[in-house]
Parts: sequence; structure tokens; C-alpha cells
Amino acid sequence: MLIKHPLCKFMSKKILSTHYYNIIPDLPNPLPLPKNKNGELINGAKTFSLPICEELKSQEFSQESEIKIPEPILRFYQRYRPTPLARALRLESYLKTPAKIFYKNESVSFSGNHKLNTAIATAYYAKKQGFKQIVSGMNTVHSALALGIAGNYFGIGIKVFLPQRNLAENSALETVLKIFNVVVVPVSDKDLSDILAQAVNEVKKDSKSVYGICSFLNHTLFHQTIIGQEAKRQIQEIGLMPDVVIGCCGGGSNLGGIATPFLEDILKGKSKRKKPMRFIAVESNAYPSLTKGEYAHHFVDQNKILPQFMMYSCSNPLEESANGLKFHGVSPIISYLYNLGFLESRTYDFKLALKAALIFAREEGIVPAPESAYAIRAVIDEARKCKANEEKVILFNLSGHGSLDLQTYADFFGKTTS
Ligand SMILES: Cc1ncc(COP(=O)(O)O)c(C=O)c1O
Repeated sequence: MLIKHPLCKFMSKKILSTHYYNIIPDLPNPLPLPKNKNGELINGAKTFSLPICEELKSQEFSQESEIKIPEPILRFYQRYRPTPLARALRLESYLKTPAKIFYKNESVSFSGNHKLNTAIATAYYAKKQGFKQIVSGMNTVHSALALGIAGNYFGIGIKVFLPQRNLAENSALETVLKIFNVVVVPVSDKDLSDILAQAVNEVKKDSKSVYGICSFLNHTLFHQTIIGQEAKRQIQEIGLMPDVVIGCCGGGSNLGGIATPFLEDILKGKSKRKKPMRFIAVESNAYPSLTKGEYAHHFVDQNKILPQFMMYSCSNPLEESANGLKFHGVSPIISYLYNLGFLESRTYDFKLALKAALIFAREEGIVPAPESAYAIRAVIDEARKCKANEEKVILFNLSGHGSLDLQTYADFFGKTTS
């Protein structure tokens, strides 16, 4: 449900979502449960061993399709939401396509990406439960920035384990993390799953700390559904509905966020469309979990300390630049939807994705986050496939901007003449 929020009375067009959408109760069969390290099924918050806040644990296993957004979080969202739904008219004319291309611009958040939508909820619930610090492990500095902004806002400390290499490559990001008082622990591991495990171990040593995660788990996808709820409302306001919804896919949160509110209508039998709406998960060819992986219970980390999740996972990822798409598994919800045939997937290599990002940047004036570049490549390919007069409506999630990730573009220019 989307309502005109009372906080927005001075902004007539501002429509905020007052709940997160949880797709789990609408799924045709129950979502497969995770297992603990001994292989026993985890059937509820009480047996879920990850040290996240109680409220987030209960959201993780919630059977309510609407999770109310607390007022203090709404007040924060109101500062940058609803994010714009823009039509990429210049891109359309560059491509000479009859398709109508829309993008939900999550780059306008203060962290420059969608991660703030869930980071702010994590900080709120952690503070409410009395914790003094959130500890996290990540492979992109952008998620750390989102947690930093959120932690400052609710007055809770943030400590992140980050690969040394990412920091060395990006001094601007190191500075911005300092601005937000983020305590950074540089780690040598390249593998995100083991960085996560280090952060969890740190939390277990300190009763005042709690673990925070910005993607993959069910609750992180729910928090991102404000993207899809708004997009649905915005595109309906101009009398359209997307034929194709596209998102890049790492852990799966931005894709889940834009796609599941549209899938809700399909699952509830409310969609009156003759042709089914398509949903495309775009992966890096370095981490093709959905496209080439196996659907089974997989451990999150190589040391097999964290729980096992029913997910698609690629066992031998390539060593290639894939930024925030660098994770060997995909969220249980996205994996399940893919397994049931609701989602398609495809992969691109780094160069193809970045070439698409350059076209978008030069036509639309926004440097996309390297992760979003993968979605843009798929958008361009879909638009180019349209026959004359085929006014396909393509919606994609511009999950972030790339202005803080210029090193990736520099690497690209180093490898190509474009
Ligand atoms: C801008 C951006 N988009 C996408 C992703 C991929 O994550 P997810 O699949 O959870 O949206 C990341 C991860 O860091 C990111 O920073």
C-alpha cells in the first residue's frame, strides 16, 4: 500500500511507502529454510545464529506481507525519497529504439546508492535494542559509507572489515568514511564470505556490538522494496506498466527491491497483462551464480562457520573486476524466484558493462556505479532487440552512481581505447 504520508503535506507529489513488502507469504510454496552449520534446518528467529538485531531476525522469518516502517526511519527516507523515476530519452534516441526506457534513480541517496535504504533500518533497530556498535564486513566501500551515514544519524558506532586493496585504490572513499566516523579494519581476504565471517567473530566477542549486513538476507530485500513500490506508483501515474524489469544482481537486494512489488500483483493474480512481465537479473560473468551455479544449500563462508542457505552459488568464480557483484551466492528469495522461473538471468563481462555505462553517462549525464553498468548493458541489448514500433517499456534500477568509484573507470580506460 502506498499512501500520502502526513510528513509530506507540504510536498504534494511526495508519496512515501509506509511499509516494506515481504514476498514470502505470497510465494506458491514456502521459501526453503536455511540450515545451521551442523545441517539442521533453522525454522525461526530463535535458532538463527547470525548475531543480527532481534527485530531483523524476526523480519527474516516473518509471514506478514507488510512490515510497518517505523516513524523515525520514514522521517529519514523523506530526505531523499521518493527517488525520481526518469525516462532516458537521450539514451533512447542514441539507440534509435522505439522502446521507452525508465530508470529508478537510487543514486540520489546520500550514499549514492540503494544500500542506505537498508543501512538506516539496521542502525535504527540496533540503537533501539541498546547496542553501541554495528560491525560489518563488505567488499565495497559504498556499503560502508551507507552504514556510516546511518550510524551517525541514529548515534551508533560503525566498524567495518574491508579489503585493504579497495582502500588503497580509493583515498576519496577512505576520507568520506572518516567524515562519518567509520572505524575501518583493513583485511587481506579477497573473498567476501570470509570477510563476513571475520565480522561475525568480532561481534561474538563483544556484547555491545551487533552484526549488520546490507544485502543477501531476506530483510535487506524487504527494505529495498520501497524502490519497487514507488516505481510502480510513479509509472502507473503516467499510464504505463513495464514489460521488462531489469536489475544488476550481486547479493540480490536491489533487484529484489525493484522486482518484488511488481511480482506481488502476478503472484496474487491481480495482473491483467496478456504478455507476462519479464524480470532480468544481470550478473557479472566473473560471478555467474544464477546463470551457471547450482541450487542447493551452500555455506556462506569457506570456513563453514556461518549458516547454509538454499541458493544458487558458483563454486569457482573468476578473478575479475566485479565490484559489488562479487559474491559466490545469491539471496535465497531471488534464488527461489529464479528456480520457479519468475526471473531470467544473463551475464556480461566487465568491458561490455563499462562500455554501456559510458553510453549512459554521456547521454544521460550520470556516471553509473560499475554494478549498475551491468543492468544498463542488458537494457541496451533489450532496447536494441525491439522491432520498429515495438514500444516496449523497460524499467531498470540505477542502483547507484559511480562518482566515488572512478578507479574502476580508470582501470577500464587502461584496458581499452574507448
Ligand atoms: C551500487 C550497487 N549496486 C548493486 C550492488 C549489488 O548488490 P545487490 O545485488 O545486493 O543489490 C552493490 C553492492 O555493493 C552496489 O554498491
